[in-house]
Amino acid sequence: MSEHTPRPGSVALITGGAGGFGRALATRLRDADVRVVLADLDSERNRSVAAELGVGFAVLDVTDHAANQRVVADVEAEHGRLDAAFLNAGIASSAGTDALDVADYLRVIAVDLHGVVFGTDAARPALRRAGGGSIVVTASLAGLSPMPTDQAYSIAKGGAVAFVRSIGPVLHAEGTTISAICPGFADTAIIDPWREHFEAAEFPVLSADEVAAAMQAAWAGADPGAAYVVQPGVGAIPYRFKGVPAAKTADGGSAAVPAHLRGPL
Ligand SMILES: NC(=O)c1ccc[n+]([C@@H]2O[C@H](COP(=O)([O-])OP(=O)(O)OC[C@H]3O[C@@H](n4cnc5c(N)ncnc54)[C@H](O)[C@@H]3O)[C@@H](O)[C@H]2O)c1
Repeated sequence: MSEHTPRPGSVALITGGAGGFGRALATRLRDADVRVVLADLDSERNRSVAAELGVGFAVLDVTDHAANQRVVADVEAEHGRLDAAFLNAGIASSAGTDALDVADYLRVIAVDLHGVVFGTDAARPALRRAGGGSIVVTASLAGLSPMPTDQAYSIAKGGAVAFVRSIGPVLHAEGTTISAICPGFADTAIIDPWREHFEAAEFPVLSADEVAAAMQAAWAGADPGAAYVVQPGVGAIPYRFKGVPAAKTADGGSAAVPAHLRGPL
């Protein structure tokens, strides 16, 4: 388990922080005396969300690698450290499924997948300088159970989960724990296009605060590289990945992957 229990005075960065989950998490962390910076696209609305919460705001488009680095540098310059990065910015496709809309597809992959990889790359040295920390990625249930109605989102979220699993042992070796939160449908702006269908079907959706509670818990207690499913009536539970069959040796035994390909387990 992670040992990075948030202490009063800890510093947390939340990308996509002016959205539904970001606001709910910022409220929780602020109330626990964590110093919070919301990073989001530049708009009056997003700036006023941070101002109303009484937390910091940084302009960030997560698809810009250099901008991720600048924001982390600014947070360190202002607050002296970074203890947790919540890589939470995300969008769904706005195109339908009849034919590929290339621009829409590339945008979703850029925000939901590259944004996570770039955010991790930017936060990693700062977390190391703080003596180790946490990265919590907001993936989605769609990353574990792909949605037939949104291929780009499913690819990006599945990729984010794979990234967390891939880099988990590497970061753990330098004192940082990365994990993924995989919520089902939750009551934020992202579900507005389908909200009436959930209501008509009386389909239960999560509150933003239920997801924020899982994000907060992952900061303190996630296992390195783990993915946590969050579903209404279920809470947050670790997802158990099924292993793959090992290669067989000539004598029928299981072949061990060469040590240098196994990484720091
Ligand atoms: N609400 C759900 O049903 C649900 C379920 C599973 C996962 N998620 C994921 O949770 C995360 C948070 O979403 P939410 O539900 O709070 O929705 P939201 O739309 O309220 O918030 C998303 C935030 O991301 C920001 N954002 C978008 N593009 C950005 C960019 N390029 N750079 C920086 N910020 C950007 C938006 O401005 C917005 O503030 C997303 O990654 C989303 O995919 C949501």
